[in-house]
Amino acid sequence: MKLTFYGHATFSVEFGGKKILFDPFFTGNPAATTDPATVEADYIFVSHAHGDHVSDLVSIAKRTGALCVGAAEVTGWLNSHGVEKTHGMNHGGPIPFDFGSVRGVNAVHSSSFPDGANGGNPMGFLFTTPEKNFYYAGDTALNMDMQLIPLWAKLDFAVLPIGGNFTMDPTDALFAADFIKCNKVVGVHYDTFPPIKIDTEKAKADFASAGKALLLPAVGETIEL
Ligand code: NI
Ligand code: MN
Repeated sequence: MKLTFYGHATFSVEFGGKKILFDPFFTGNPAATTDPATVEADYIFVSHAHGDHVSDLVSIAKRTGALCVGAAEVTGWLNSHGVEKTHGMNHGGPIPFDFGSVRGVNAVHSSSFPDGANGGNPMGFLFTTPEKNFYYAGDTALNMDMQLIPLWAKLDFAVLPIGGNFTMDPTDALFAADFIKCNKVVGVHYDTFPPIKIDTEKAKADFASAGKALLLPAVGETIEL
């Protein structure tokens, strides 16, 4: 699987000829280096409705014709903004897709659109596929429900927020990595804005001393997982 990091919590995962884009935030993202008009996607998964996860959602969805997946309130909002190809869901599942299956899992956060519309429950996504299994936590605090993840899947990697203030910080992300029984973590949602600046070298060292890898791809970088 290939993961491309676009800055903040925007990334794509490519496998089996499909490209899955997560939380498209290019416009307004001071860290972004990619022109959103060039981003391709077969699917777009939306963890929640905050502006730093959806600023380019409608435009990329319309241009690419990608299937947009997220809370039913998020997909309903998309429908009302002219995006027809959607799959509404909620915590639960698993939901079969042509690349594998996805569960919506708890995220301790909030979810409203910049225009004030209700975004439903914020969530994380657990992907089980013939190639690899992975978990994107979305924006969330550390929570005990993360301990459910290993009941459903043996993870190959996880994408966790590590910037603190709005989400887990690196210390809590390390606890989360234990809860989900995963040794390979891609950190997101850090350094984009002053309140979420972290000491990345210390974070990587803390993960390493716990026998885990904290991967922090550069903006625009593609890594193999
Ligand atoms: Ni958020
Ligand atoms: Mn966020």
